[in-house]
Amino acid sequence: MEIKVFKTAEEIGSAVASIFVDEVKNNPSCVLGLATGASPIPTYKEIIKAFENGGITFKDVKTYNLDEYCDLPKNDKNSYYTFMHEQLFNGLDILEENVHFLDGNAEDSEAECKGYDAEINAAGGIDIQLLGIGNNAHIGFNEPADSFTDGSFKVKLTDSTIEANKIYFDENPMPHYALTMGINQIMAAKKIILIATGPKKAEAIRNMVKGEVTPQVPASILQKHDDVIIFLDEAAASLL
Ligand code: GLP
Repeated sequence: MEIKVFKTAEEIGSAVASIFVDEVKNNPSCVLGLATGASPIPTYKEIIKAFENGGITFKDVKTYNLDEYCDLPKNDKNSYYTFMHEQLFNGLDILEENVHFLDGNAEDSEAECKGYDAEINAAGGIDIQLLGIGNNAHIGFNEPADSFTDGSFKVKLTDSTIEANKIYFDENPMPHYALTMGINQIMAAKKIILIATGPKKAEAIRNMVKGEVTPQVPASILQKHDDVIIFLDEAAASLL
């Protein structure tokens, strides 16, 4: 694991965005795994700036998002579909047919997950996977569990995750289920970038980097990937 510590979230955004921009320039039909949450927002802003400055196109780029809530309309203001369009896709020339999400409203969630995994494989796998981390060290929505998960699946969210994310929900209550890519699937990405900022993430970061590899700390599996870069601010790095 390579660990980089920055002073501000904006500096992290610039550094991570430049990795994505270089990838898209070198490999215009690359496959990107994308994440939601507050952590990637500065990165997405910088990617949009780079696009606006010219010399780069996203029209052959494919994206696959990590996760999506169940039982929330696709266009709800809190869906990850809406988040990604507002924070990134609407600012790029990416094609709608090339952006992919798990359908949290699919009647047969198992078939939905299998189909999503097959699509990612058919696209050649993920070149760069962006991750945030939950306060309980979840990645995607892989909550602490007794074993590491494989492909995409339907998950019941933990109280800790519901507590951390319910601030975004005012009208509708926060869903308690989601569809998420699984751990082995995340590990299959060629390169992984994880962003964490703020003191609430410090313990999860310490456990991920210094603790044993255990499904009780889902992000600890990243110790076993040979191309992971962790971008932290000083607060998130404070227990290392
Ligand atoms: C949610 C998402 C995760 C994200 C986490 C942390 O649980 N499913 O993918 O990493 O939130 O979000 P934030 O970056 O807002 O702290």
